[in-house]
Amino acid sequence: MKNERKVLRNKSILLGVTGGVAAYKSLDLIRRLREEGSSVKVIMTGAAKNFATPLSLEVASGHRVCADIFSDPMSHITLPADADIFVIAPATANIIGKFANGIADDLLSTCLLSFRGKIVIAPAMNWRMYENPVFRKNLKTLLSLGVIQVGPEKGSLACGEEGIGKMADVPDIIESLKSALANKDLLNENILVTAGPTREYLDPVRFLSNRSSGKMGYAIARAALRRGAEVTLISGPSSLDKPKGVHFISVETAWDMFNAVAGELPSSTVLIMAAAVSDFTPAKMSQKKLEKSEKLILHLERSPDIIAAAGKKKKKPFIIGFAAETGRKTENARKKLKEKNMDMIIFNDVTEAGAGFDVDTNKVVIIEGEKEISLPVLSKDAVADAILDRMVKIRA
Ligand SMILES: Cc1cc2nc3c(=O)[nH]c(=O)nc-3n(C[C@H](O)[C@H](O)[C@H](O)COP(=O)(O)O)c2cc1C
Repeated sequence: MKNERKVLRNKSILLGVTGGVAAYKSLDLIRRLREEGSSVKVIMTGAAKNFATPLSLEVASGHRVCADIFSDPMSHITLPADADIFVIAPATANIIGKFANGIADDLLSTCLLSFRGKIVIAPAMNWRMYENPVFRKNLKTLLSLGVIQVGPEKGSLACGEEGIGKMADVPDIIESLKSALANKDLLNENILVTAGPTREYLDPVRFLSNRSSGKMGYAIARAALRRGAEVTLISGPSSLDKPKGVHFISVETAWDMFNAVAGELPSSTVLIMAAAVSDFTPAKMSQKKLEKSEKLILHLERSPDIIAAAGKKKKKPFIIGFAAETGRKTENARKKLKEKNMDMIIFNDVTEAGAGFDVDTNKVVIIEGEKEISLPVLSKDAVADAILDRMVKIRA
């Protein structure tokens, strides 16, 4: 997907690697950043060489690794001057302490002082170090100066202990770089996104559901967060990781989702219904597991129409719906748009290659008013941004 917009495409990233066990993860971080289209230059500390070799970082980044301030006397100025963003991963207690106190005694710490852009740090250390009040004070100083922190997580640490101090996962570090560089055009929006399938129970162990994975809705929630919105994500059962920073509400049935949306609607400026809400629900759920029999006739009734209810509100938010169809026609989606008082509807033919359930791409038509904008097959992240772009334009 050559032409799609990517926040990290053609960005110059300066990566500082410091002396912690998590330094081996820097290789994966470099690889994934390059996949996003970024160019990565690495500065490592002397201590970091005990944990990752300069050669491996050089091979991964495709650039000479810089470590010595005196081998190229101007590098402490030129390296930061050429970079769009600076990330330290892993960030030791030592580099955080040095930076917070203006110490510049090696290439990395000196570059940090001469850099003028956004700085992201991914602290990683033993929990005792992380909870040390001296370290906390240094970290607080950096955060108060606008440095962006990602992680650490709780978990089993390299030393064998359990606790807080595990470096953030690579996708989370990448997400925080994207967020740091993204255009914050949704700062005043409270966006309510629904995602995933619902489950309509026949009895305590059986339910009717559908193939929705939640990928499209989760991508919209991440994109909206990145662009500065407050985001509430109401999700049916999904195996996806919760996007960090969203207000997350987990639901199962269509009625659960209806009630959760009703509760959040008054404080939302935008509702994006990417969930695949079941149209039908059993008229009565059996409290006991249904016995095996030759035949079972199910009585289904309509489940609540969440969008239609939202569209009838006096103070309705901007409403974006999805119409997953098995056919190429957009008429039906256009009809839903009008009938349910939506502002925009995203049509996709789930039978088309690269579109629909459980894949990472989608091919959609954005319909608003009389306009139809057909997008090519794009990643769901790119589709999410395209939908939000269109919404921003209409609301401007
Ligand atoms: C085996 C081992 C693992 C270490 N892991 C960490 C770590 O995860 N985080 C940390 O802050 N320091 C860790 N340290 C201590 C740092 O390596 C030490 O503070 C060093 O001076 C950091 O230098 P730098 O910040 O210039 O890379 C570790 C030390 C050893 C010997």
